[in-house]
Amino acid sequence: MKSIGVYPGSFDPITKGHVDIIKRSAKLVDKLVIGVLNNANKKCWFTPEERKELIEKTIADVDNIEVKLFDGLLVDFMQQNNANLIIRGLRSVSDYEYELQLALGNKTLADFDLETIFIPASKDYLYLSSSIVREVASHGGCLEKFLNAEIIKDVEARAKDK
Ligand code: PNS
Repeated sequence: MKSIGVYPGSFDPITKGHVDIIKRSAKLVDKLVIGVLNNANKKCWFTPEERKELIEKTIADVDNIEVKLFDGLLVDFMQQNNANLIIRGLRSVSDYEYELQLALGNKTLADFDLETIFIPASKDYLYLSSSIVREVASHGGCLEKFLNAEIIKDVEARAKDK
């Protein structure tokens, strides 16, 4: 039986920290689905389709990955994809409190075999988040250390529109 994992998130935009988690978790499963939250209530810089495209541009070299949009509950998306492993990156103790809530909430909701695994962020990316990237971009700062080269121009262009 194939192991299918889902790495869900907002990815507004995908950072080098996300890429690190994606590359490491893709080695743990046969197929990794990156689930991009399509949430109309959340104000994002990029539309769900744009966030999906930025991810695809960034991780074009990893072959057991598929990027999909989802809305509604993550457990439903897991079931639609025959996936039973949720992957989340962990940076700090404050992340952990929220992540534990999500993991236990999802486990409680699921009427199928479901686990969440946490992958510790690499030390170079412990501080990094999409919101830090948006802040640096909105002040015209250098994005090289935060984003893969393929998407820097897209993020700089969006920052100028803001
Ligand atoms: O990158 P983020 O914003 O931290 O990702 C959060 C995400 C998408 C994993 C979370 O908000 C989510 O799974 N949303 C879908 C709705 C849902 O299932 N919530 C959890 C209920 S226990």
